[in-house]
Amino acid sequence: MTIITNSEAETISEGEKLGRALKPGDCVALRGGLGAGKTAFTRGLASGLGISMCVSSPTFTVVNEYAGEIPLFHFDMYRLESENELFDIGWDDYLERGGVCAVEWSEKAPGVFLSGTIVVSIDILGGDSRRLEIATDGGIRPGFPAKGGDMPC
Ligand SMILES: Nc1ncnc2c1ncn2[C@@H]1O[C@H](COP(=O)(O)OP(=O)(O)O)[C@@H](O)[C@H]1O
Ligand SMILES: [Mg+2]
Repeated sequence: MTIITNSEAETISEGEKLGRALKPGDCVALRGGLGAGKTAFTRGLASGLGISMCVSSPTFTVVNEYAGEIPLFHFDMYRLESENELFDIGWDDYLERGGVCAVEWSEKAPGVFLSGTIVVSIDILGGDSRRLEIATDGGIRPGFPAKGGDMPC
């Protein structure tokens, strides 16, 4: 699905719509460069999940946790050195804790995503316009059961 937004508020609103449809265990992998709107979209996700806390970029902490009926685990992989570093902080546990994982800079760790991951790619079209591509394919990790879908990340 492709959506064009023309303001930050519209991107937040698209995140909110997706957030309302998410289930425990879902993982949203965000792609797009600096200033694309990944954090804005994640704010919307949080709001759609019923989380009222202010979501900010976890650039210096890798992951921020927000409590809720379905908790949100907000990752930023920008400074990640390796996928192993992610497994060391308990990536697999996060996937299995019954929350929603939202991951900025997911392209830095393409090998960690399970099949069934919701991929949101954001392109800056210029000015305040953004193209959002939302696809429910995602990655496949060897040794892990697929949740559906068989397209590579
Ligand atoms: N259509 C849009 N969607 C999202 N952000 C937009 C849009 N137009 C302009 N912006 C601006 O772009 C920036 C996006 O920031 P942010 O969400 O932190 O990006 P990222 O997390 O991808 O680095 C904000 O300053 C926001 O106001
Ligand atoms: Mg960000």
